[in-house]
Amino acid sequence: MGKLENKIAVITGSGRGIGRATAELFVKEGCIVIAVSRTEKELKELEEKTKNKEGKIFPFKADITMKEDVDKIFDFVENEFKKLDILINNAGVAPSGSIFDMDSEKFLYCLKLNIWSAFLCTQRAVRIMAKQNKGKIINVGSVCSHWTGTGNAGAYAASKYGLKGFTEAVMREMQNRNLNISVGMVCPGLVDTTLTNPEREIKGNWLQPETIAQALIFAVTNPEDVNVYDMIIFPNWQKVW
Ligand SMILES: NC(=O)c1ccc[n+]([C@@H]2O[C@H](COP(=O)([O-])OP(=O)(O)OC[C@H]3O[C@@H](n4cnc5c(N)ncnc54)[C@H](OP(=O)(O)O)[C@@H]3O)[C@@H](O)[C@H]2O)c1
Repeated sequence: MGKLENKIAVITGSGRGIGRATAELFVKEGCIVIAVSRTEKELKELEEKTKNKEGKIFPFKADITMKEDVDKIFDFVENEFKKLDILINNAGVAPSGSIFDMDSEKFLYCLKLNIWSAFLCTQRAVRIMAKQNKGKIINVGSVCSHWTGTGNAGAYAASKYGLKGFTEAVMREMQNRNLNISVGMVCPGLVDTTLTNPEREIKGNWLQPETIAQALIFAVTNPEDVNVYDMIIFPNWQKVW
């Protein structure tokens, strides 16, 4: 029996990269995954690839910077499954640029996707999870949730530090309300994905998305009353601060 048999999970940004590897691993462990991204073709490929596994992919094309799209995802979950066990807030962008000439719209969009969309998904998720009095929410942060890296990615660091603050606040609120809902983060260093390596050059010593997927499965398969709060994962060579 898989570790996630009969579990329902929403994973944002699961068309490629970390979200995709996580969706594949979750399905292998018996999970029903609502796989969210904007590129239908990638979601279809994921669905096809995981066809004969224990669990199942429900591809869900949505732009999570649009509140109405987020509502459609969680309306679907409520109507179809009547419960939600896991939310992985993974979709994100990582614009870099100096403070002297950073495009202000890019900065704003980074905050919008990396924090506000996580808020929208979390709000809908906790409303479902509170009724069940259980659930696991993991936000994919970054080493930049803890350190600002080389200094040329202010938008990204601001968004990922912000996501850390949001994670802590929601975790505390669940405790204050005596709700058995775990809220935490997984914070990767350099992972070889199209986000960081769009040209798909060989990056032998970077983390693989599957390593982060393993961390995510660990975070959500602990007992219901255990909170895995923050896992920071980077390759030994990466000087993160
Ligand atoms: N790669 C790294 O080195 C690294 C390190 C630390 C943290 N992270 C974090 O890990 C997360 C995933 O990164 P990744 O490297 O796997 O990125 P990626 O390869 O670029 O994948 C991002 C995924 O998010 C989806 N997405 C983007 N905008 C979206 C939107 N508005 N609505 C719905 N889905 C959207 C993308 O699909 P569509 O474009 O088709 O929508 C894609 O499936 C991000 O939060 C990132 O900050 C990555």
